[in-house]
Amino acid sequence: MLELAGVDTYYGQTQILRKVSLSVEEGKIVTLLGRNGMGKTTTVRSIMGLTPARAGSITFEGQDITRQKHFRIARLGLALVPQGRQIFASLSVRENLTMGMRGKGFSLEDIYEYFPILRERAKHRGNQLSGGEQQMLAIARALLANPKLILLDEPSEGLAPRIVEEVGRIVLRLKEMGLSVLVVEQNVSLALGVSDYAYVMHRGEIVYRGATAELARNDAVQAEYIGVSRLGRGED
Ligand SMILES: Nc1ncnc2c1ncn2[C@@H]1O[C@H](COP(=O)(O)OP(=O)(O)OP(=O)(O)O)[C@@H](O)[C@H]1O
Ligand SMILES: [Mg+2]
Repeated sequence: MLELAGVDTYYGQTQILRKVSLSVEEGKIVTLLGRNGMGKTTTVRSIMGLTPARAGSITFEGQDITRQKHFRIARLGLALVPQGRQIFASLSVRENLTMGMRGKGFSLEDIYEYFPILRERAKHRGNQLSGGEQQMLAIARALLANPKLILLDEPSEGLAPRIVEEVGRIVLRLKEMGLSVLVVEQNVSLALGVSDYAYVMHRGEIVYRGATAELARNDAVQAEYIGVSRLGRGED
């Protein structure tokens, strides 16, 4: 469904991604793991046309989207839930949601059915939500754009372990709804708990790829390239 082949991406003169190749099959959850600063966000930004690839190719459902404009890529059915969630602090939950609406597909009512807590909080401002609720809102907003493939950039960041489990359940629900998911993570337990296939990135290169069950057994790769997740760094 989504295919990156030999993608190189730069910020100015600095090369960040080096020959990145990865694919997401329809209906699957694929994870991209790696430590801080390794190029995970740059990868999703390249896919979305926000930091276009300088070399290589990116295709989505057979269409070449390399260096296409962001809005065109979004229109084809790709949606990004950015790192740090980026919801509007001073707008209500409802306002945050309706901004993303595209007129077909999911309605606000559908979203409230999937995420009843958002209905309860509809009139609360973004900054009155807990971290977990903010993540839910960010995912719900992306869904309103009616994507086929959703990219989640570190959805567990800064969340307490119990809330991370909740995020994991939401990711699995996206798959049940028929979406394909690429989830960027540093949290190994979330990533390995939900995904079908895994990639590990180190200094802008894919250094490991395999079925999630295989990576789960590969302690050496986990120790070398992923390490322990940032437990205790942030609470909900
Ligand atoms: N706008 C930018 N301009 C220049 N360099 C950047 C920019 N954004 C990121 N970088 C650099 O690119 C490299 C990869 O960053 P990226 O954000 O893709 O990493 P990441 O794997 O998402 O890390 P994290 O887990 O901290 O989010 C880092 O060395 C970072 O300092
Ligand atoms: Mg990042």
